Amino acid sequence: MNSASSKLPQHVAIIMDGNGRWAKKRLLPRYAGHQAGTDSVRQVVQACSEQGIQALTLFAFSSENWRRPEREVGMLMELFLNALQREANRLHKNNVQLLVIGERTAFPTKLQDKIQHVEALTAHNTGLKLRIAANYGGRWDIVQACQTLAEQVQCGQLEVDAITQERLSQQLNLAEVPEPDLFIRTGGEQRISNFLLWQLAYTELYFTDVLWPDFGRDAFQQALTDFTSRQRRFGRTGEQVEQQKTC
Ligand code: FPP
Repeated sequence: MNSASSKLPQHVAIIMDGNGRWAKKRLLPRYAGHQAGTDSVRQVVQACSEQGIQALTLFAFSSENWRRPEREVGMLMELFLNALQREANRLHKNNVQLLVIGERTAFPTKLQDKIQHVEALTAHNTGLKLRIAANYGGRWDIVQACQTLAEQVQCGQLEVDAITQERLSQQLNLAEVPEPDLFIRTGGEQRISNFLLWQLAYTELYFTDVLWPDFGRDAFQQALTDFTSRQRRFGRTGEQVEQQKTC
């Protein structure tokens, strides 16, 4: 029996990897790869919007990316700023709601202000929930959620026994969107790299050798098609899942 489900993911999370190698192959500076990567971002955002996917989370800058050469970090900050400046109106026009998750206070003030501006501009949009993870780490997210709960216990607002998985989930940065159904990593590596550690517990993982700047609409569509052919069991047996579908 074919276990394919034609259901699209509600939430897609992506590690956009391979910009540097894309540039190196063309004898270009790494920056050119990041710049070319912004086109892929635009294409994937558009594809998600058009197909009614509820949420898209992109890993743009990890807590560990500060270890890169200072020049590259500076250029990435500049690139984020320019991309926000250039894309703000288009995102708004397309009813996309943008939110940056991560410790943004480490970013240049100009970038923080721009982020705040675009978030405010798109706050009431009802289409795609676009989340950009910047200076984000999955462990950091879990720790900050625990700290919030600990503070609530300390001031008597919360009983220790009331700390459940649901309660902790509510304190995470992506609390208001469903957990990702599909995780994509481009660029050939097969790692989670401290991305959404908690939220990826039951996510379908898709790894591709395609470098991020080459990951356009077609490659994204291929990932969606692959997803629809998978059977998600959430701990149940394959037979149980099939039975539930016919009910
Ligand atoms: C990883 O490739 C990519 C990044 C650290 C930056 C991602 C940024 C973009 C795609 C630019 C635009 C993003 C937004 C949200 C506007 P890498 O440099 O690690 O590539 P490599 O593994 O080939 O060296």
